[in-house]
Amino acid sequence: MSAGSTRPGRYIPGKEIMDSVMFEIRHLTHAYETEDGQAYRALDDVSCRIRKGEFTAVIGTNGSGKSTLARHLNALLLPTEGDVLVEGMSVNDPENIWPIRQKVGMVFQNPDNQLVAAVVEEEVAFGPENIGVPREEILRRVETALEKVGMTQYRHHSPAMLSGGQKQRIAIAGVLAMKPDCIILDEPTAMLDPVGRREVMDTVHELNRKEGISVVLITHFMEEAVTADRVLVIHRGHLVMDGTPREVFSQPEKLKTIGLDVPVPADLAHLLHKKGLAVRADCMTDEELGDALCPFVSKI
Ligand SMILES: Nc1ncnc2c1ncn2[C@@H]1O[C@H](COP(=O)(O)OP(=O)(O)OP(=O)(O)O)[C@@H](O)[C@H]1O
Ligand SMILES: [Mg+2]
Repeated sequence: MSAGSTRPGRYIPGKEIMDSVMFEIRHLTHAYETEDGQAYRALDDVSCRIRKGEFTAVIGTNGSGKSTLARHLNALLLPTEGDVLVEGMSVNDPENIWPIRQKVGMVFQNPDNQLVAAVVEEEVAFGPENIGVPREEILRRVETALEKVGMTQYRHHSPAMLSGGQKQRIAIAGVLAMKPDCIILDEPTAMLDPVGRREVMDTVHELNRKEGISVVLITHFMEEAVTADRVLVIHRGHLVMDGTPREVFSQPEKLKTIGLDVPVPADLAHLLHKKGLAVRADCMTDEELGDALCPFVSKI
């Protein structure tokens, strides 16, 4: 449901467009106060729109402002200048803070820092309990959330005994129990092994695909960013690139100047193309690169 919903029949110019917008970021600037009392602009005049149901990846080097941006999306941080509208609700209006936090859940990097309960199902129930959801409804939400992240069989376990990937799935279930429209994940796989990373990415993609939950994924892993609908590149507090993964990763020189990695298939395809080989320059995955190289291999 949109916060901007109005009585049926009343025409509001641009309303249809705004109804499909999850986040409207308008000239967002955030300045932290440094130890010597100076203002440091971690975000500087960032504007963009993120649509409902979109899977957006945010990439950038260390300290570029990714987490600062993420924390504005559920009003954990407030703008120094500018505004963020979440489903039409401004983060600058104090009355919107709680509705926004319920609409937009957040999952952080370290699973151990965000799990508080002794038993998995208590952990998942924690959020709804805090906002006074009735007991019967909490039980239903816990069951559904655990099912959606594929962790039902662990409901009576201690979170401490789970793997990193499983802990992150419980953290995601905790967010799901709040019935969010969007999940923001700030490097959720950074501390996980490849199996845990896959578990979390599969879970998040399934929630996006099947439940229509909008996802904003901050990541240092380019192969994760490749799986998004859209990639935002932040550099020194500015939004410097915004496009589909193919659009962004087919510009390896630009990304490297910023200090970012490029997915290996994209880098190699671009290099071969530049050397004059008739290979499409915008391969994103190993499969695509394999297909692009096939005609050459068969000639050998
Ligand atoms: N509480 C704070 N006080 C002062 N400066 C801060 C604070 N939090 C972040 N910063 C600074 O703001 C800049 C952006 O930080 P932010 O955490 O958003 O970057 P990031 O892109 O998430 O980096 P990383 O990839 O390391 O997580 C950095 O230079 C950081 O040192
Ligand atoms: Mg960060």
